[in-house]
Amino acid sequence: MSSQSCSGCKGQCASNNAATQTSEEVKIDNVAQENSVEVANEESTETSNNGVSTSRTGRLVAAANTALIRRDFSNTSRYPRPKSNAKQNRRMGFPYKTVLLVGATSGIGLALAERMIENDVFVIAVGRRKDRLDDFVSKHGSDKAAGSQFDITQFDQIESWAKEITTTYPSIDAVILNSGIQRTLDFTQPKDIDLPRTVQELGTNYTSYLYLITHLLPHLQEQAPKPTALVTVSSGLALIPLPRCGNYCATKAALHSLMWSIRAQLQHDEKSQHVKVIEILPPAVQTELHSQQAELVKIGEGNIGIPLRQFTDEAWAGLTRGDEEIPVGMVRDRFDATEEPRRIGFRRIVETFMTKK
Ligand SMILES: NC(=O)c1ccc[n+]([C@@H]2O[C@H](COP(=O)([O-])OP(=O)(O)OC[C@H]3O[C@@H](n4cnc5c(N)ncnc54)[C@H](OP(=O)(O)O)[C@@H]3O)[C@@H](O)[C@H]2O)c1
Repeated sequence: MSSQSCSGCKGQCASNNAATQTSEEVKIDNVAQENSVEVANEESTETSNNGVSTSRTGRLVAAANTALIRRDFSNTSRYPRPKSNAKQNRRMGFPYKTVLLVGATSGIGLALAERMIENDVFVIAVGRRKDRLDDFVSKHGSDKAAGSQFDITQFDQIESWAKEITTTYPSIDAVILNSGIQRTLDFTQPKDIDLPRTVQELGTNYTSYLYLITHLLPHLQEQAPKPTALVTVSSGLALIPLPRCGNYCATKAALHSLMWSIRAQLQHDEKSQHVKVIEILPPAVQTELHSQQAELVKIGEGNIGIPLRQFTDEAWAGLTRGDEEIPVGMVRDRFDATEEPRRIGFRRIVETFMTKK
């Protein structure tokens, strides 16, 4: 592992002053919380109106459900997503100033890294390909970017790496976990399944995230009350699997489920409520995820998906709106259809089993 130096990095690294939260940033976060309550109220009203019942019992049940939903919305995730409008975008923005972006050497991670740099965010890019990290820093300059070469499947090194990176860059206020790989898996030919390769996919897409979150979250928690964020990139395939790559879909479904639990836990812990838990769910996007898969290239599917630029515009809009879940492109419809009933069940579980710490 090697971290690049960051001389002249506008106060991002340890050798400069630690970042402090401005009153504007506090205001932005408050606005975000207010908006979520407004949205919760809108949704509660809708639910009540939809459950048309003229009997007193029916009205009481509807009222009780509305109250439950209203309470749960304020305690758990924000659904539906706040409506997009330019005024809101201007008010909220992206309040984080130093982002640790794991998986930033290509595709979605690199595009998001560059979008953030354009918006005055200092980005520490992480990945295994050192030449790409070096190119990234040379392109943007060490006052805007840094690189750290690290293989996230080295689980036993994650704790020390996390300590080193947060000591070098104490101003890190958002961690984006984006790294991932995808493999084809065919159970019609079990004897041909390469299990170590399949387990490597699980390790990259899920197990490493467990380690990274465990060892990076304390840094985000200890900055209270300054808003900080934990962001993961899962997939639309977390919601409905694609049989060609069943293990990949399972790793993303596991991550999606984990994010709901982490979000609920942090929102119920007064010391952690300033840590926003965000998940981006991309559709198929034209990146190396597909173009580097020989099986896909062979059948002419190495370049499937929406253009990276289109993905980045939409994901960035969600991040600047302050959304906690950002389904992009065609995943939006799937998300609305599959997640609403599940979310109602989840809210009930949260209400029943979680108490404020
Ligand atoms: N493209 C899509 O259609 C699509 C759809 C839904 C979700 N996603 C998700 O989006 C994320 C980004 O994928 P992408 O499409 O942008 O693919 P990509 O261009 O292949 O990027 C993958 C990134 O992950 C990093 N990475 C992989 N293994 C790593 C390891 N062991 N240690 C450190 N970094 C590692 C890679 O860096 P190095 O190789 O330099 O290590 C690279 O920066 C993934 O989680 C993917 O599952 C993609």
